[in-house]
Amino acid sequence: MTSAQTPSSHTRFPAGGRAFPHRDLIAIGALATHEILYLLEEAEPWVAFNRQPAKHADALAGLTIINAFFENSTRTLLSFEIAGKRLGADVVNMHAAQSSVKKGETLIDTAKTLNAMRADALVIRHGSSGAVGLIADKVDCPVLNAGDGQHEHPTQALLDALALRHALRERGEASSDGMMVGRTVTICGDVLHSRVARSNVLCLQALGATVRVCAPPALMPLGIEAMGVEVFHHFDAALAGADVVMMLRLQNERMDGQFIPSPREYRHLYGLTSKRLALAAPDAIVMHPGPMNRGVEIDSDVADMPGRSIITSQVEMGVAIRMACLDVLTRKARRIPGWGAKDSAGEWV
Ligand code: NCD
Repeated sequence: MTSAQTPSSHTRFPAGGRAFPHRDLIAIGALATHEILYLLEEAEPWVAFNRQPAKHADALAGLTIINAFFENSTRTLLSFEIAGKRLGADVVNMHAAQSSVKKGETLIDTAKTLNAMRADALVIRHGSSGAVGLIADKVDCPVLNAGDGQHEHPTQALLDALALRHALRERGEASSDGMMVGRTVTICGDVLHSRVARSNVLCLQALGATVRVCAPPALMPLGIEAMGVEVFHHFDAALAGADVVMMLRLQNERMDGQFIPSPREYRHLYGLTSKRLALAAPDAIVMHPGPMNRGVEIDSDVADMPGRSIITSQVEMGVAIRMACLDVLTRKARRIPGWGAKDSAGEWV
């Protein structure tokens, strides 16, 4: 399958580059709802493509993608690498631990170095909120945010939406647009340190969901009500009738100080057990971005519950959504007709 076969058969989206008029993918907060839906739609052919035995396309042949990860990652790094390779690009991974960052190089100098190597897309994970946007300002190619501090993790929210869409479709319940209208999603865990929570709140609300967030007071961001979420500190109340339960890990590496009394007490108050899950809607969907701490925020029988847990599907959808994002963001460079720049009148040409 080439890019010429995949994109833009969807007549309900604006044509060409107007469907996604951004050079970078830094934050869900910067996207309109129809742009989120466009990326989900673009990912669909790649879901089917990835289920074939031979999974090699040439859409990005000759392009160089650099994955620069200044923080640890398993699934995000691997799925961006697989996505780039399945699209035919040359993919290079830079791990900060083995790079000149350890020798004192500034972030801007690292960005300039990557730029000078003429990467066609940069995928960046960084521990500081805003760092990926800062790099994007200094380079000439599309930049994809693979998680920046406590700010955003846009491809995670997109893959979660795609996994939800597939799960609802399998149950015969999904419409493409407004698929979350009338549904309640409970996000529980270390909301304070979670870029996944932030991107998901924005994405799920854009798709029509009512979003509840639940955490101990010390792990709830001050003023989060301003995002239009319902705030809970008691998990049982937050679960009542929820259609989707999204669990988050305690991000110990981001905590400076004691945020919870002990993992045991945390599990007692905020762990998703099968008994607790029974408080949610009868067929509630269970999600987790990974990595999981089984027996802390989620019990194994819930994490592996057939027909309810879509955690494995989330990982599968991650590759497809990242293929779609890399494909869409490199169309201008690949001179795909209609994916040009804005002209002086602000029109896409
Ligand atoms: C998340 C992250 O890194 O923000 N993981 C992921 O990308 N799948 C969540 C986490 O680390 O807990």
